[in-house]
Amino acid sequence: MVRSCCCCIILCSVTICVIFYSPSGEANADIHGRERTLAVVKPDGVRGNHTDAIKATIEGSGFDIVKEMSLQLDLMTAQILYFEHYRKPFFQELINFMTSGPIVAMVLEHDNAVEKWRKLIGPTDPNKARIEQPNSIRAICGSSTTQNCVHGSDSSAAANREIMIIFKDVQSGEATNSRHDEL
Ligand SMILES: *[C@@H]1O[C@H](CO)[C@@H](O)[C@H](O)[C@H]1NC(C)=O
Repeated sequence: MVRSCCCCIILCSVTICVIFYSPSGEANADIHGRERTLAVVKPDGVRGNHTDAIKATIEGSGFDIVKEMSLQLDLMTAQILYFEHYRKPFFQELINFMTSGPIVAMVLEHDNAVEKWRKLIGPTDPNKARIEQPNSIRAICGSSTTQNCVHGSDSSAAANREIMIIFKDVQSGEATNSRHDEL
């Protein structure tokens, strides 16, 4: 299992380099000053029928939803996605939860998309969110630090990695074109 994950991470690093140094794709991103992030409505959010409201919030905040996919994460993909938490005590619970039902994954585009989306979703702990940012998405539909309704990448590099893991077709270069074709 660990060996497979490492292989995937190495594969990902290689592909991330390809994306970074792709002259056409990155040049266009820089000209428009746009950044991409990964937004996921987690299984609790989908089960609680929050997907439409979350999408309305996303669109109302000026993001472009460049890609969208409803899927059920398999065990391997979930483990790769959360690889950095591999040794943490909550890892198994997190994996069990993330594979427990369908999710909705979206690639969002905006100026400072990573930071903007994280502000919109609020703190990881929904109880903290309800006190500090009562209008944030997690304050509205989260119930615990694991079952907190939505995911947001925590950096631009993480966003690239996570988008590639979920939207596997990025490796074909299709995603760099999609920022123009799929709006
Ligand atoms: C689910 O959410 C939508 C939009 O927010 C709402 O119109 C619909 O009534 C909800 N369905 C259920 C079963 O609660």
